[in-house]
Amino acid sequence: MIARKLTDLIGIGPFMELPVSNPDARLFLKLEKYNPGGSMKDRMSVSMVDRAERLGHLHPGGTIVESSSGNTGIGLATVAAERGYRFIAVVDHHAARDKLLTIQAMGGELHFVSGTYAENEVAVVERQSTAAKIARELPNAVFMQQSDNPGNPVGYYPLADDIHKQFGESLKLYVSCAGTGGSITGVGSRLKALNPTTQIVAVEPEGSIIFGGPGHSYYQSGTGTPPGDTIGEVMDFRVVDVGLTVSDQHAFGTCRFIGRRTGLLIGGSTGGALFRALEIVHNGNFSGVTVCNVCDGGEKYLHTIFNDEWLQQRGLLDGSVLLQLEKWIPHHPVEHAHEQAFAETV
Ligand SMILES: Cc1ncc(COP(=O)(O)O)c(C=O)c1O
Repeated sequence: MIARKLTDLIGIGPFMELPVSNPDARLFLKLEKYNPGGSMKDRMSVSMVDRAERLGHLHPGGTIVESSSGNTGIGLATVAAERGYRFIAVVDHHAARDKLLTIQAMGGELHFVSGTYAENEVAVVERQSTAAKIARELPNAVFMQQSDNPGNPVGYYPLADDIHKQFGESLKLYVSCAGTGGSITGVGSRLKALNPTTQIVAVEPEGSIIFGGPGHSYYQSGTGTPPGDTIGEVMDFRVVDVGLTVSDQHAFGTCRFIGRRTGLLIGGSTGGALFRALEIVHNGNFSGVTVCNVCDGGEKYLHTIFNDEWLQQRGLLDGSVLLQLEKWIPHHPVEHAHEQAFAETV
C-alpha cells in the first residue's frame, strides 16, 4: 500500500503463530507493535483526537496535553505532527527513555513531574494533576485524560474487527494487558458482540490494583494501575471473564525467551500477558484458538528487559521461568489434531 500520511499505516500489524506444545491448541500473536508508533496506543490516540475535534474541544492550532508513560505520548505526538497541534506529554522517570526521546523527535514537548520517587514507582497521580493544570492554564488546550475518555476504548474496535476477520467463530480466547482498561474493554466488548462465546482474559502486573490484588510498585511499563491511582472509567469489568496478575520476573523472562526462540522482540506488558496465555493453553483440556495481543515491541526496552546487568541488579532474573517456557514452546510446530478442520474455519 502507499500511505498518504503516517496514521494511515495504523492497523497493518499481521498475526504470527507461536507453536505450542498442546496439539489441540493454536496460539497467535497480534503484532500491534508494527503500528507506526510501535504500539497499539496509536489506535486510541487518533480516536481521542478525532473525538475532541468532533466535540469542538480542540481547534486548529490548539494544544494536546496528556499524562503518559510513553506509548500514548508517541501516538498523540504523531497525530499532533500530522494535524498541526502542539503536544505536551506529562511524564515521569518510570517511562522508558527511548519512548520519551521518540516523543521529542516528533516535536512533542516533555514536562517531567517534580518529586522524588522510587525507581519502580509510577508518579501517575502527579502526572494527571499536572496535565490537568497545564491544560487549564493554556488557551485552546485539551487534557485527553485517557483513563476516562470514551474515545480510548472505541479506538480499538477496528482491532477486534481485524481479529474477527481472521479467526471468525473459531476464536476461543483473547488475552491482553490492562492499564487504563481501554484496549481490553474496546477489543473485548466488540469481540463478544461478534461472538459471545469468546473468553476475554486481562493481565496486569503484580502490584497493580485493577483486579483487587495488594498494591505495590512494579517494573512493567505502561500497564496496570498503581496503588494511589484510580481505576479508569473506561475499564468495563463486565467484558473481562478472568483478570490475572503476573510478576515482573515472569513477564520479562517471557520477553527474553521469545526473543531468543523466535527473534520477535515483545515489550514487558506483553511478556506478562503471553506467559498467562501459555499457562491457560496448557492447562487441562484446553483446545481451540487463542489470540494474544502484542501491545508494543521489545525494541523500546533494550536498556532494561534485555539487559542482563539491569535485571540482575534488581533481582528480576528467574531461570525457572525459562524452564517452564521451554516445556510450552517447542522448537518446531507440532502436528495439529484438527489441522484440516482449522484450515476450513480460518
Ligand atoms: C506497553 C503497554 N502495555 C499495556 C498498556 C495498557 O493498555 P490500556 O491502557 O489500554 O489498558 C499500555 C498502555 O499505555 C502500554 O503502553
